[in-house]
Amino acid sequence: MENEIRQQIDALRVDILAALAAASDATALEEVRLAYFSKNGKIAPVMEKVGAAPKELRPVLGRLVNEFKGIVNGAFEEKKNALAASAETAGIDATLPGRPVPVGSLHPIYAARDRAIEIFRRLGFALAEGPDVETEYYNFDALNTPPDHPARNEGDTFYLADRSLKLAAGGKEGRLLLRTQTSPVQIRVMEGLGAAGKTPPVRIVAPGRCYRRDEIDATHGIAFHQMEGLVVDEGVSLADLKGTLELFFRELLGEDLRFRFRPHFFPFTEPSFEVDASRPGNQVKGKEWLEICGCGMVHPKVLRNAGIDPERYTGFAFGFGIERIAMMVHQVNDLRLFGENDVRLLRQLSPKV
Ligand code: DAH
Repeated sequence: MENEIRQQIDALRVDILAALAAASDATALEEVRLAYFSKNGKIAPVMEKVGAAPKELRPVLGRLVNEFKGIVNGAFEEKKNALAASAETAGIDATLPGRPVPVGSLHPIYAARDRAIEIFRRLGFALAEGPDVETEYYNFDALNTPPDHPARNEGDTFYLADRSLKLAAGGKEGRLLLRTQTSPVQIRVMEGLGAAGKTPPVRIVAPGRCYRRDEIDATHGIAFHQMEGLVVDEGVSLADLKGTLELFFRELLGEDLRFRFRPHFFPFTEPSFEVDASRPGNQVKGKEWLEICGCGMVHPKVLRNAGIDPERYTGFAFGFGIERIAMMVHQVNDLRLFGENDVRLLRQLSPKV
């Protein structure tokens, strides 16, 4: 008796699983349901037999039946769900290309910055940074810029009213301001070296945002980006400065670039220069020569202010505007275009991601 029922249940399970596997749509599934699972289906009589079996067999048969029902009901539900899911995707051609999802891209200013960092990295420069909110000390005094220098004028620099921020900026003397240049990073890097018990060589570039109360026009904004460079070591000379900058700008803007190192004045370098570049056949604003960079040999006072012995070490420094570089790369003649968030311009100038 027990064996007979066991065999029937086994056979039924095999049949049902085969029928379910063969059912390829909802109609076929309904046929399987009627044939096996309904009141008049093939499962019912077997269950009746189990019900009529002698009492002592019930526990064994009950377990058998539960297991059987678990399997066939589970398989039925699974098939039902699978058919419903495939009905939902019916008519969808999975081989068609998908709808494009708009992806962002790097802003041309930041793409130019990254390109510059990449070139300097190959030349052995490390990346450094400093805060946008600076103290007067780092932005001016430590850089040998005296209190009566015009750049320190209220009309040229954004001073902050809140003195409680002073500590966050480093705790050095003076009012807080939005840095007018990335040059204070030079001081922070050299001071950091001493604080860490290290000595030169130093070779860093420091990109970042700067702020000036400038009249806004095609080549000036009140917030813009600069990249600062500093090299300090024994025996660093003007030849190193020229070689480094020429190599960098040629790599960035083209092999055929020509240079002019024009004597200039910066308080923190001596001698100081402005670098003009010209690209044959490529005039910007009708001018052949375009100023692209300020530079010079680090002033001994600046080294001393930052705790470095100027008798032993020399260095060069430079700073250039990243907007200016992006303008040259893309031949854009008005820097305000970069800040307008016009996706047409961004799409045209940004490298594809
Ligand atoms: N900080 C200068 C400026 O904003 C640029 C500059 C000139 C940086 C000469 C330097 C330098 O490091 O040596 O105009």
